[in-house]
Amino acid sequence: MTLLEIWTLRKHYGPVTAVDGVSLAIESGSRTAIVGPSGCGKTTLLRLIAGFEAPDGGSITFDGALIADERSQIPAHKRGVGIVSQDGSLFPHLTVEQNIGFGLKDDAADRKIRISELMDMVELDRAMLTRRPDELSGGQQQRVALARAMARRPRVILLDEPFSALDTGLRVATRKAVGAVLSAAGITTVLVTHDQAEALAFADQVVVMRAGRFAQVGTPREVYAHPADPATAAFLGEAIVLAARLENGQATTMLGQIAIHDRNRQGQAQILLRPEQFSILPHQGTEDSASTNFTSGIITDVDFCGPSCDLAISLDKNPDFSLRLAMASQPLFEKGARVQISVNGPAHVFS
Ligand SMILES: Nc1ncnc2c1ncn2[C@@H]1O[C@H](COP(=O)(O)OP(=O)(O)O)[C@@H](O)[C@H]1O
Ligand SMILES: [Mg+2]
Repeated sequence: MTLLEIWTLRKHYGPVTAVDGVSLAIESGSRTAIVGPSGCGKTTLLRLIAGFEAPDGGSITFDGALIADERSQIPAHKRGVGIVSQDGSLFPHLTVEQNIGFGLKDDAADRKIRISELMDMVELDRAMLTRRPDELSGGQQQRVALARAMARRPRVILLDEPFSALDTGLRVATRKAVGAVLSAAGITTVLVTHDQAEALAFADQVVVMRAGRFAQVGTPREVYAHPADPATAAFLGEAIVLAARLENGQATTMLGQIAIHDRNRQGQAQILLRPEQFSILPHQGTEDSASTNFTSGIITDVDFCGPSCDLAISLDKNPDFSLRLAMASQPLFEKGARVQISVNGPAHVFS
């Protein structure tokens, strides 16, 4: 069932079009990630959904009822939407208990029970209830912000880059914990991030946003393996884009023949390969011929990054072309090493 529907939504700030006519359906109980570079309009879109901004055009429907268009808006506190912002924006002078209970009625009989329940949900020790935000770690502050957003039992939670201030290990752990809490509560979640790996790992539905528009909407595997265009491909991970001639389900490229997904495509096109489709082995000394399924080259540059290496490889047959890709580290990866490159298809063909 579609819970939230956005239709040709637009928002300008003076001459800047922050959100430029986007449409999206969000299923009840699902997780959507909106990913895009800084300034592409992600926060504006969340603020439109939350009710902190009014659209200049288009509409937002929640559970079948219109909640915003250019003429009228349901106020934020009546939307059943919770929001967690980038910095958590906890009230610094209030305790954890007061922060979480902020939106709850003071005299509500079940207020204390609800606050305890929320602390358990986000796995925070109840001993922390009397602390102030500056006495908590970054990860704990984000959990309090989530508990506060969940206090009034919203059906939708909007997360605006909530993990970006955390360092890597804590970031992954907090993301998993938050995802589990929201899924267990059956809350529909929209996560905004500029981190493509985070978007792919978190969501059922990924929206790639660029300059106020949606470049692509799909499952994580769809958008990664079948990106709409080379810019989307590069945004979602390392992309090796090659010119190709297509014939009978094969692409002929400077890396030899590579199988393609779409057997019906013919003629000139651009294809996409991801680094995990490559294997790079020590060169065996055999010359390339029609019968070999690899391409010979020489490593011209290596950036050692620990688990991976960024390589530049010059191809024997096309010395002017530098193949650049990150591969899992191997002792082989030294400048000057002769290698053979093979590619596991199929490759994606850009339309
Ligand atoms: N209140 C505002 N007034 C003027 N311009 C704004 C305002 N909020 C955002 N913008 C502009 O709108 C664009 C989108 O911003 P934003 O939605 O914050 O992007 P993101 O969250 O993807 O980084 C940017 O060009 C930004 O400068
Ligand atoms: Mg933002």
